[in-house]
Amino acid sequence: MIDARTTHVEQTEELAAALAALVRPRDIIVLSGEMGAGKTAFVRGFATGMGVSSDETVSSPTFTLVHTYDTGKLVIHHADLYRLGRLSDVEDLGLRELADLGDVVVIEWGNVAEEVLGDHLVVSLEVDDDEEDTRHVVVSVVGHTWDSRWEQLKRALAKWGN
Ligand SMILES: Nc1ncnc2c1ncn2[C@@H]1O[C@H](COP(=O)(O)OP(=O)(O)O)[C@@H](O)[C@H]1O
Ligand SMILES: [Mg+2]
Repeated sequence: MIDARTTHVEQTEELAAALAALVRPRDIIVLSGEMGAGKTAFVRGFATGMGVSSDETVSSPTFTLVHTYDTGKLVIHHADLYRLGRLSDVEDLGLRELADLGDVVVIEWGNVAEEVLGDHLVVSLEVDDDEEDTRHVVVSVVGHTWDSRWEQLKRALAKWGN
């Protein structure tokens, strides 16, 4: 696990961009954390870090379920599972298949679907009890796809270390 802490929204975006620098085709990133924790802010920084043009607005795909961004190098699918009650609905979205095809998939509220997603990175965001703008960011992994990148990721996120 990697523990980090951000004290304003821009820091969460920067952390996400630093993580994005290590992302490869087929990666799935699951974002967990309550409403307002900063999941969409994370995706905004992540997308910018991946090269999505900054005039493309990254917002929560709460009603459309999936937004897709093309960086020119690869395609990022940004999903929000908040409104999906059943695991079968999640499977119908085909997110894992999109990753298998070589795209990158980032999923808000993705923790509800972890069992159908295969190997993935989990980024959990939690609002600090005392400081309104502080977020505890914990990065963990399911499977082995990050084994060879883990030390690099630790170094990349060290400046936000607790
Ligand atoms: N350190 C921080 N990291 C992320 N967001 C923060 C932070 N501090 C304050 N915020 C605010 O919290 C809110 C997070 O909203 P959002 O990213 O939409 O959350 P979610 O997608 O998890 O519901 C934004 O209004 C953002 O400005
Ligand atoms: Mg959101």
